[in-house]
Amino acid sequence: VLCLTQPTDARWVSVALSDLPSVLVDHAHCEMKAATTALALATRADAFPEVVRALVMLAEEELAHFRAVLDELERREVPLGRPPVDAYAAELLRAVLATARDRSPAGALSDRLLVGALIEARSCERFKLLSLALDERGDALLVRFYEELFTAEARHYRQYVDLAGQVLGDEARARTRLAAIAGVEAEVAARFGTRPAIHG
Ligand SMILES: [Fe+2]
Ligand SMILES: [Fe+2]
Repeated sequence: VLCLTQPTDARWVSVALSDLPSVLVDHAHCEMKAATTALALATRADAFPEVVRALVMLAEEELAHFRAVLDELERREVPLGRPPVDAYAAELLRAVLATARDRSPAGALSDRLLVGALIEARSCERFKLLSLALDERGDALLVRFYEELFTAEARHYRQYVDLAGQVLGDEARARTRLAAIAGVEAEVAARFGTRPAIHG
């Protein structure tokens, strides 16, 4: 799917379906973090006003997703709970920054944008797996919910890649770096995929 070089561990879908409330809680936390990350990136992108604007719009969409998952939780009377650290996202960012060759402000910002792209891509893959499995279960409402989110997160993936290209002023360089980061992501993702969580 998208730029991912390794598919999710085949066990993940059954783990996720065995505890859907936990997946929905984690998903709500992911959307909240997606919004705050986009806003944090906007403040780092002050030298690129168009990038700031795009990130603020992206954050607004993630907030709408957060609200939509909250609606699902309320419907099921599942409490939101406190978000834990997203170990997958934290490890991915650490591993990517450790491999950075271009340590200029633009290079660092574009790496963070590309990490955002990878997280969107992995979320997309997982949403697709969930919607296919939920379809087999006949849960039509949630299937539509995850299909819509799949489309939105796929668009976010492309936006993050485009924004990295804008920051570098070089689309081809952003693509090359994206491929390298996708390789790092595959190694990180291989250590996950066994918990009922979007990136777990
Ligand atoms: Fe989202
Ligand atoms: Fe997103």
